[in-house]
Amino acid sequence: MKQVHSFPTLAGPLAAASAYATGYRESKTNLHPTATLAQLRNSFGGDLPAKGQPGEQVIADLIKAAEPGLVGNTQPGFHAWVMGSSHPVGVAADWLTSVWGQNAALYQGSPAAATAEETACDWLLDILDLPREASVGITTGATMAGFIGLAAARDELLRRAGYDFAETGLQYAPPVTVFVAEDTHASNLAALRYLGFGTNNIVAVACDDQGRMITDDIARHVARVSGPRIIVATAGHINSGAFDDFHALADLAERHGAWLHVDAAFGLWARASVSTRSLTNGIDRADSWSTDGHKWLQIPFDAGFAIVRDSQAHRRAMNITAGYLPDDPDDGRNATHFNTELSRRARGFTVWATLKALGREGIADMIRNHCDCASLLAHKLRRLPGIRIHNDVMLNQLILSFDRGRGDADANRMTQAMEAALNADGQHFFRTATWQERCVLRVSIISVDTGPEHIQTLAQKIEALWHDIRR
Ligand SMILES: Cc1ncc(COP(=O)(O)O)c(C=O)c1O
Repeated sequence: MKQVHSFPTLAGPLAAASAYATGYRESKTNLHPTATLAQLRNSFGGDLPAKGQPGEQVIADLIKAAEPGLVGNTQPGFHAWVMGSSHPVGVAADWLTSVWGQNAALYQGSPAAATAEETACDWLLDILDLPREASVGITTGATMAGFIGLAAARDELLRRAGYDFAETGLQYAPPVTVFVAEDTHASNLAALRYLGFGTNNIVAVACDDQGRMITDDIARHVARVSGPRIIVATAGHINSGAFDDFHALADLAERHGAWLHVDAAFGLWARASVSTRSLTNGIDRADSWSTDGHKWLQIPFDAGFAIVRDSQAHRRAMNITAGYLPDDPDDGRNATHFNTELSRRARGFTVWATLKALGREGIADMIRNHCDCASLLAHKLRRLPGIRIHNDVMLNQLILSFDRGRGDADANRMTQAMEAALNADGQHFFRTATWQERCVLRVSIISVDTGPEHIQTLAQKIEALWHDIRR
């Protein structure tokens, strides 16, 4: 009989990965990829081997092919986007999650994974000071968390209007209108599209110069429409870091029986520190919240949280049941009640371990440090002629443009030139964005290791480069 392929033991490949991993994280490797797309295709390409290769060799090949194409987003000089830096304890827990190979769909599929998840969700509600009766789904990220919050909103509002969504579907249900900021994060529009909402069902609300919804404008729009209504607010605008006025939006939602969902991908963590908590005032009055673990909380990708005040509405929207899937009343948490997936990674281990490694004070200190760093950078740049800070720096975000007074087109070119110059020595990673029709340089301060000393160096570098470029 033909010999079937047998699994290698874990020891060799894991030792190879482990020996490399510690060195990778301790040395300051490239922030920018060094390989071109063609080179990466060449390294990863070729025919699939007919026969399996030795494990250590495969890991060595993977490292060799991947490393030139990696981005150093775990490092303090990375400021291009809001990305966390994968906490070392989270990484170790994530490895164990793979080693254990658990399927975290059901309690009976992995009682340990279900219970770690249960505790981690309780800790989250506690740190974020959200209603303790809310239920939490651990997702792949904020996009899916938003999808779940909005699915619960849609189904529950229709149920209140006398329609069982599971039975009637969208086709025979009354229209649900969704109100979003005209500058809402693109992931909210994607989630709404997956849920069956087109642009005709979505009202774009005017925003102020920080990207906050203008409350008079949304109040006017909401009053004009009848039927079920969902309001999507933002805590931590992707560019400016701004927060909507949650008390005003919660009052409006209460007045019209609307559902208030908050996209709080990173802004919700402002609530974990006394220094920034007031930015989130009134947020606890919402019906659902979506936030990330892999951004400010530094949990390895991918981790997000869908939090819904009415856990029954959450369960009705997400539940997966089948005769073969045990749902014993004496069981612990069945994650299938709160997520889109059936089989799923046991993310609860990583969330639990990262929360425990940081602790309540560690999280608060990290948030405060990043916000202090943003204020320090703003303070240093504000005094330099021609550098404009477009946002009220209240969180960990700055948006800058570089203008020598020769018109908007020239300022856009200068800002792009600064992006290139800042990236040139490989010590920093920046990207520009379009903000209110201007080219701006985004500065997100979120890597766990970024501290005031990095900001001092960065401010000096910006000053020197701008001095040369503006001439
Ligand atoms: C405000 C906001 N909402 C949603 C998202 C989407 O999050 P994710 O990339 O985790 O799906 C982001 C990502 O940056 C964001 O900043």
